[in-house]
Amino acid sequence: VKSSITLDKYAPVGEIDERIYGSFIEHLGRAVYTGIYQPGHPSADENGFRQDVIDLINKLNVPIIRYPGGNFVSGFNWEDSVGPKDQRPRRLDLAWQTIESNQFGLHEFMQWLGKVHAKPMMAVNLGTRGIDAARNLIEYTNFPKGSYYSDMRRRNGAEQPFNIKTWCLGNEMDGPWQIGHKDAVAYGKLANETAHAMRIVDDSIETVACGSSGLTMPTFGSWEDTVLDLTYDNIDYLSLHRYYGNQDNDTPNFLAQSLDLDAFISGVTAICDAVKARKHSQKTINLSLDEWNVWYHSNNHDAHDEKWQEAPHKLEDIYNFEDALLVGSMLITMLHHADRLKMACLAQLVNVIAPIMTDENGGAWAQSIFYPFMQVSTLGKGTVLTPIVHSETYGTKEFDAVPFVDGVAVLNDAGDTVTVFAVNKSLDTAQDFTIAAGDFDFASVALSTQMAGYGLKETNEDGHMGITPNTTARLAEDGVHVTLAPASWNTFQIK
Ligand code: AHR
Repeated sequence: VKSSITLDKYAPVGEIDERIYGSFIEHLGRAVYTGIYQPGHPSADENGFRQDVIDLINKLNVPIIRYPGGNFVSGFNWEDSVGPKDQRPRRLDLAWQTIESNQFGLHEFMQWLGKVHAKPMMAVNLGTRGIDAARNLIEYTNFPKGSYYSDMRRRNGAEQPFNIKTWCLGNEMDGPWQIGHKDAVAYGKLANETAHAMRIVDDSIETVACGSSGLTMPTFGSWEDTVLDLTYDNIDYLSLHRYYGNQDNDTPNFLAQSLDLDAFISGVTAICDAVKARKHSQKTINLSLDEWNVWYHSNNHDAHDEKWQEAPHKLEDIYNFEDALLVGSMLITMLHHADRLKMACLAQLVNVIAPIMTDENGGAWAQSIFYPFMQVSTLGKGTVLTPIVHSETYGTKEFDAVPFVDGVAVLNDAGDTVTVFAVNKSLDTAQDFTIAAGDFDFASVALSTQMAGYGLKETNEDGHMGITPNTTARLAEDGVHVTLAPASWNTFQIK
């Protein structure tokens, strides 16, 4: 079967903001405790940060990390997490019904970020708290000195401000499960006033308002419209969250969910632009997909969890090969929207629906989804070219025409290298795939790799999965010809 991607160097979609390769650490399950932080573990440094985890995160190349939640943030008092550790309170975390010891907090997070070369995306609590706590927090983190909270920070060991630039105004406030859930008007007014106050303390910040926590939320659309209407001048981004699962064991339909993500991103972009037009505004609101992933494997386990434990095993999805294919496809979809999608967070980073897992008594390991993410975050830099992809399609119970091949091409800043990412969703048929060169004059195929040949339900608990060379790629007059294996993730670089 033939398929192709045609390169048009004169038709850019947009420049990639590398913050779309962000991730997320929430105080949830073992993300923090026995994940990134485990004093006494053989690989922990003098701060208790696990070096084996840091090494894997550095391979994953994550430029921004959302923190400290998630649902957790909607009941969080940030003051609990600073100051001498032996004086920090143990609290009930109502969101996940666990105990939070606060032994890892704001200063520890900022210090740990330096080790993984990432910037913070900090969320404020707009569930149980509001304007007052948020303005105090930004005074603590961003004000240089000479005020109550900035001097408290200095006494706590950070002479220089943290200068946190990116701020989420609450989390999933449209969700009835959220502590302090609000309707769109109540949330919009609170988010607007909070952002306004925070900007008085530091007008260089960027703020993200909560959009919908899923495309199927009953308030989707009207929520965005109302929130944008009420916050427009004080926000820069609108968030969207999306998770997928293969509960019905219908792989073709599961792999087609990238089309749902595409519709979601397009829909939110359209609403942002409709509000812009209505307001006669010059300002464009961009998108932050600040939670996305596959999430369903752990649901049954978590439904029977014992409550009020510290760092319990929660949301510990063990990912298989088909999950890696969908994650790759979602990344391709995100790149198609590079013009408007400026931040995104793979949810999450360690142990909790995560590409990296740890054994509290052993090592750390990479899940199947680690590999496509790592390749895109490392190689997907520059400008996305308009995707001209030709492929046969298939139908599923949710989608009429799903292209077997999903692809995207990225031109680097020097203008001399094109990187192509492609997924073949056909489970039984190889693709005779052409990367049609258009006006490019290529001299070599610098990289040709695949992740293929695994069973759809195969996992990487023993570490055998990875990226291997695809030796079928050949450069011809008209471009590159290569075979895409059935059910495969593929990456090429042509110079
Ligand atoms: O990432 C796990 C949870 O999913 C987050 O806490 C919440 O925001 C979302 O519902």
